Amino acid sequence: MRSTWGSGPWTWGPGDEVITPAFSFVASASAVLHAGARPVFVDIDLDTFTLDPAQVERAITRCTKAILPVHLYGHPCEMGPLMTIARRHGLAVIEDAAQAIGASYAGRPVGSFGDLACLSFYPTKNLGACGDGGMVVTDREELAERVRRLRNHGSRAKYQHSELGYSSRLDELQAALLRVKLRHLPAWTAARRRLAARYSALLAALPLTLPHERPPAMHVYHHYTVLSPWRDDLAKALVDLGVGTALHYPLPIPGQPLFRNLGGPAQAECPRAWQASREVLSLPCFAELTVAEVETVVRAVSQAVNRIG
Ligand SMILES: Cc1ncc(COP(=O)(O)O)c(C=O)c1O
Repeated sequence: MRSTWGSGPWTWGPGDEVITPAFSFVASASAVLHAGARPVFVDIDLDTFTLDPAQVERAITRCTKAILPVHLYGHPCEMGPLMTIARRHGLAVIEDAAQAIGASYAGRPVGSFGDLACLSFYPTKNLGACGDGGMVVTDREELAERVRRLRNHGSRAKYQHSELGYSSRLDELQAALLRVKLRHLPAWTAARRRLAARYSALLAALPLTLPHERPPAMHVYHHYTVLSPWRDDLAKALVDLGVGTALHYPLPIPGQPLFRNLGGPAQAECPRAWQASREVLSLPCFAELTVAEVETVVRAVSQAVNRIG
């Protein structure tokens, strides 16, 4: 679908480019295709699993319209340097905050930096509905109006459709549930941060690379994801010990069949994205997890590491 977002950086079509990380959930990049542009993948910083600003600046061309940073696992991107780069080159910024509601950078909430930001209320998210849901936030009235139209079949007024839109409203039951759950989000975020701190203290002596909170970012630990060169063996040993883990994500986006023929970067150009996909392992992390359960997981990880070591 060709998107026409008014003048300037919001008029996108074939040939236009949006810079986005090679390592994320596929939706970050498929959104760019839906908007009619081409995702240009850049590598991540392995300490935070987010866009590397230096790589972003190198990827800017005459065709670049926007930067789409992803606050992956709940760790905010380097929004200071990224916003400076975006302003210098006159680029739009769309934050993918699907995994990061409640996180902040330099005391300011993620989602408040870019022109637009996208949130997900998928049931497993830090603020999850009982089915699907999401939200776009912006402080720009013209963009807010455009998004309101797009979510409801491109409708300006009842039964008047000025453009091609979607059926993408948040239904009332989900909204009602989310309004109640929203009150608990600060406590749930604090619980995730406590559990992550406990994991990090208990796992410190093991040969694993642990998640890192790089100031001035405040991490909300949607996932607690470690890196291990023996990830597959570790995951198998943990299943045998009764601990479920997950891979977020086993393949970088440019390696997905959908994106392979778009002329995306080879492994050699985004080595850290490929390394992450080989080595990441997410341990159980949710607000209701108890400290005793964290200790059980850590004992299992320790046994698993000894078994494969
Ligand atoms: C980083 C990221 N972006 C985008 C999405 C898409 O969210 P939704 O499926 O609610 O549209 C997700 C969902 O898992 C995600 O993790």
